[in-house]
Amino acid sequence: MNRPPMLDLHEEYGDIVRIGPNTLSFGCPEAIKDIYGAGKAWDKAAVVRGRTAKTLFSSPDIAWHNSLRKAINPYFTATAAVGYEPLVDKTINVFLEQWDSRFADKEGPDGVIDLADWLLYFSFDLIGELTYGSRHGFMESGSDHQGIISFLQHFAVYGSILGPSPFWDKFLRHNPMLLWLERQGLYKGSTFSLGPFVGKRMRDRIAQDKKRKPDDEPKGAEDLLDKFLKARVTHPKAVSDQEVLSLSLTMVLAGAETISASPIITPDPFVNRIEELTADALLWV
Ligand code: HEM
Repeated sequence: MNRPPMLDLHEEYGDIVRIGPNTLSFGCPEAIKDIYGAGKAWDKAAVVRGRTAKTLFSSPDIAWHNSLRKAINPYFTATAAVGYEPLVDKTINVFLEQWDSRFADKEGPDGVIDLADWLLYFSFDLIGELTYGSRHGFMESGSDHQGIISFLQHFAVYGSILGPSPFWDKFLRHNPMLLWLERQGLYKGSTFSLGPFVGKRMRDRIAQDKKRKPDDEPKGAEDLLDKFLKARVTHPKAVSDQEVLSLSLTMVLAGAETISASPIITPDPFVNRIEELTADALLWV
């Protein structure tokens, strides 16, 4: 595994290393609480921000961040996570069905599964299921449905390079002239409309909920959108439609690649787990 270069710098120069004119790198875990802890005076730096996205990640507004976190924290506890299990089970079933129908009993390359791709399809569909109760359709199509994954990958690379220099973003991705030309259909830029994509799912769900009658079958496990819409009622000052949209967007941005990358970038524990699972399966046979 490649050793991150920052580790060498910290080993040589100590816990705090100045890596730019106005940038310090901290190499000690105690710093996390001092910098990120609630009520600390360190504002987030300005980062690249789209037109709609005031998110938990991008907003430097600490008061907004704190009140939004307070409103939604109960939905991210271990107890709340148990409530999402039926949605996870549903997605796992589709994952296994797709594997069975596509790869089981196939000889040669047709029987080979690209685990990195399929974990991505799984995690993106899972996050869709968890967030607004519907999969994005990656597993059913067996592909990067609507190019969402490749957009987010470009977005991540762009954000990590331009994030610390938001000034340049105005000339590139959020160049007003290019955005205007794009809206006129005269230019195809890199701005995939994730906002409208998620917004449509949000509006569809609100419309569906409105149509529901008291004697209709119960809906099953509540997803995050249900919870965020509840928070809009219980914490009206902290959560408006804009926050519901922003939170749903954040889930898609934050929750999918992280889940799929974890087993891929830490191969050893994953391989061990596979061995354990295989051993368990053999015990059951
Ligand atoms: C193994 C999987 C995951 C990893 C490694 C991971 C990693 C992280 C890290 C490092 C941060 C801090 C970012 C920063 O403030 O600079 C973060 C924040 C966050 N993550 Fe995750 N994450 C994972 C899964 C998820 C999932 C599944 C969701 C949503 C369903 C999620 C939602 C969030 C949100 C909303 C924040 C912002 C919290 C805040 O600023 O108040 N993450 N995550």
